Amino acid sequence: MPRSEAIVGFAQGSSHFGAMLFSRQVADTGSGAPRSANPGEDFGPAHEPVMVEEVLEALSPSPGAVVVDGTMGQGGHSLALIERIAPGGTLIGFEWDPAMLAIAQVRIGDPRGVKVEFVSDDFREIPRYLFRTGRTADAILLDLGLNTGQVLDPKRGFSFAHDAPLDMRMDRGRGEPASAVLNRMSPVQIEDMLRDYGDEKWARAIAKKIVEVRKSRPLTTTFDLVECVLAAIPKGAREKRIHPATRTFQSVRVYVNRELQGLEEALGAMAEALSPQGVLAVISYHSGEDRIVKHAFRSLEATERFESITRKPRTPSASEVERNPRSRSAKLRAVRRLLP
Ligand SMILES: C[S@@+](CC[C@H](N)C(=O)[O-])C[C@H]1O[C@@H](n2cnc3c(N)ncnc32)[C@H](O)[C@@H]1O
Repeated sequence: MPRSEAIVGFAQGSSHFGAMLFSRQVADTGSGAPRSANPGEDFGPAHEPVMVEEVLEALSPSPGAVVVDGTMGQGGHSLALIERIAPGGTLIGFEWDPAMLAIAQVRIGDPRGVKVEFVSDDFREIPRYLFRTGRTADAILLDLGLNTGQVLDPKRGFSFAHDAPLDMRMDRGRGEPASAVLNRMSPVQIEDMLRDYGDEKWARAIAKKIVEVRKSRPLTTTFDLVECVLAAIPKGAREKRIHPATRTFQSVRVYVNRELQGLEEALGAMAEALSPQGVLAVISYHSGEDRIVKHAFRSLEATERFESITRKPRTPSASEVERNPRSRSAKLRAVRRLLP
């Protein structure tokens, strides 16, 4: 199916709960094996799913299960989950970036014997969605952050490597672009954002530079922001391992998309939407995210109705990091529901 058709098909999907939903049920042929996705399709840069084996081990999805992929991205984890839940399973995929969801929809194609529901919404809506459709989930996966397709699309403004409009919204139909945020915030607000969401040691100097530059002209492009960062961090103090603008771009993106807002409460509500023995697994990529996941899971364990199945967070193998350097900061935590 050509990509444009998939996007049209998606856009025409029926609307439920304020989200766009497109659902497919394909007849079970009895083989139990899902048909593969369309490997020849060109979607631009593919996102390599992180820690797939570890995720499958934690979630242990079985045929007939109801599984939610809360961050469907380009559908990499979803494809692996679909293979395990056929025949008779249901995969519900949430993704708030409509461009990514459209790609996932085409890649996933028509898996045999598995019902797939594509939901264009925030994963914080998962508990409400399940409740309204009278279901609980056997497994829920969140693979937080960005996917490669978003980072490498120069038009999106997520990357310090491409000069582009300073946008960074995952859903470009909602919220304020990064340029508006950086041109209106006070120096203290910018500093707090860089420190809280990026652990940026040079937060104050970068905030000061941004405010100084925008006095003469507003920041409009990614390179405007990169220039502020480079001017603020002395050459000798720059980290060798990562680009000096990495932490700034991460924190602005987290702020623009309100990525951590209400995350702890949302994780609690998702855990309550699990079936008994159901598992919630979360992959995080920076300390701010991981801290929230850790606290949320501790609170759940304290109720004695949930148990952690990753006493220490699991991390990718050395060979995975070598093959896919983007996986290097991944941490996987999972919690199982014990009692109703
Ligand atoms: C790391 S990628 C997931 C990649 C995916 N597991 C795969 O294999 O292709 C994270 C995805 O989650 C989406 N996302 C992040 N926060 C979200 C939220 N609150 N609700 C829905 N989607 C979200 C992003 O748009 C991005 O596509």
